[in-house]
Order: sequence, then C-alpha cells, then structure tokens
Amino acid sequence: MMKLSLSGISQEYVTDKGETVNAVGETDLEIPEGEFVCVVGPSGCGKSTLLNVIAGFLEPTSGSVRMDGKVITGPDKQRGVVFQQPTLFPWLTVSKNVEFGLRINGTSASERERIVTDVLDLVGLADFHDSKPYELSGGMQQRAQIARVLANDPSVILMDEPFGALDAITREKLQNDLLDLSREKRKTIFFITHSVDEAIVLGDRVIVMSARPGQIIRDVPIKISETYGRPLKGAELRDTPEFDVLRDEIASSIGLSATDV
Ligand SMILES: Nc1ncnc2c1ncn2[C@@H]1O[C@H](COP(=O)(O)OP(=O)(O)OP(=O)(O)O)[C@@H](O)[C@H]1O
Ligand SMILES: [Mg+2]
Repeated sequence: MMKLSLSGISQEYVTDKGETVNAVGETDLEIPEGEFVCVVGPSGCGKSTLLNVIAGFLEPTSGSVRMDGKVITGPDKQRGVVFQQPTLFPWLTVSKNVEFGLRINGTSASERERIVTDVLDLVGLADFHDSKPYELSGGMQQRAQIARVLANDPSVILMDEPFGALDAITREKLQNDLLDLSREKRKTIFFITHSVDEAIVLGDRVIVMSARPGQIIRDVPIKISETYGRPLKGAELRDTPEFDVLRDEIASSIGLSATDV
C-alpha cells in the first residue's frame, strides 16, 4: 500500500472578483513509504496548493488523497508541515514552541521533556532550549520549526520551500542534516523547492510540474547514490557527471537554461 496516494486531484479557486483560477489540473501521484519526493515547477503552478491539499488544509475540487489507504479529510499530526517562513510563537522559548503540539495532546511533562531534548539534539539546537525565536538566526529558526514537527513524530513531512530564505552555506548544511535525518528515520517527505539543484541533492525522485494549471509533466528517479553504491551528499553528489545530466534534463523541462538553476 502507498503511503500517499493522490487520485484525480484538481483544484480551482474562485477569486474575490468571482473569477475561477484553475490552479492544479488533474493529478495522480503515488508515494511509497520512506520516499523523499521533491517538487519543482514554475512560480504559480500550484505546488503549494498541492501541498495544502495533502496536508488537509484545503479540500480538493475533485479527486481524493489517501494516506495509508484512508481518505484525508483534514489536518492530522501524522503529517507535519514546514513552511518557508518560520512560524514559531515569538513569546515562547524554543522548548515551549517545540512541545506545543505535545501539550495539546496531553503528553506528560516528563515525556515532553524527553522528546524535546531528543529532537533539539537531532536538529543541532541542544544549547538553545531556553532561547526565544528572535535570538536565533534564520537557519536556527528553521531547525526549530523542523524540531517542532519532529516532536509529533509524523510519518509524513510536507515542506514548502523550507530553505528558500537561507544563505547558501546554511542551506547546504540544513540539506545535509535533513538527508541524514530522512535516511535514519525513514520519513516520507514531500519537499517543494525552486532550486533544481536542491531537488536533485535531496530527492529520491523529482516531480516536475507544468505552468498553471499545474500537472506533473516529468517524474524523474534520482539514482546517483545507487550508481555509486553508497549514500552521497553535498559537494560529492554535485560533482558527479550524473548530477549535471539530471540538472540539464530537469531544468530544460521547466523551460530554464542550466545557468538559471
Ligand atoms: N486562495 C487563493 N485564491 C485564489 N487564487 C489562489 C489562491 N491561492 C493560490 N491561488 C492561485 O493559484 C495558483 C497556484 O498557486 P500556488 O501558491 O499553489 O503556486 P506555487 O506553485 O506554490 O507558486 P510559488 O512557486 O510562487 O510558491 C496561482 O495562480 C495563485 O495565484
Ligand atoms: Mg508556493
């Protein structure tokens, strides 16, 4: 059984002026458990819309999404969402932000403490339990956001350009850490990015969407690590000839020249 299964999904919006916007065209997608799927496509092609449908924030105009075979009817803590801009509560410490969902679920104080320590260690924020979000850099805030999602131990993580606002060095560090984490924890990840490079570095598979109404026009398996017989990451992965081939192929399918990505 597939972890996530989208069948016949489409999404129309009606604007304030009463115009219909066809955001996502008929879309089918199957994602097995533990797969890291990256999604690229032109701006406005419906990537975030698709993520919101999978999250359960938005009811699709047609079709349905199933998780573990069950139709998704609303948000669920089994699906954690990380957005581009950190959405931490500014008045709470990092720990309190991270344990927020656990408190709502009635998790005991000792269990919360164990989980918070665990996930903050995992994202490299062990020394920042008592810091306020404004005391953290952008990259650290994104780590805290990821920790908050991990605290709920979701089986699916949906990420909407989570590293888009970060500088190149921080971004690469977070990419490497996310790769380690996904390989270790076998989470199913749906990751939207504007960067073709980032998609290839992270994904087991890259989905390319067309301009609006967005539809899947390419579904590219990324097998560079398999070719080399070990998990590659970072510069090592980028330096392979296979990487360049995939980059050109994916960039040209969204109408970009390789220098734009
Ligand atoms: N609530 C809304 N009401 C009306 N139109 C909307 C709404 N949300 C999104 N749209 C439109 O739907 C289309 C798809 O938007 P969406 O945010 O999913 O695109 P995207 O691929 O995530 O773009 P970007 O890469 O810029 O983030 C766009 O044309 C957008 O203007
Ligand atoms: Mg978007």
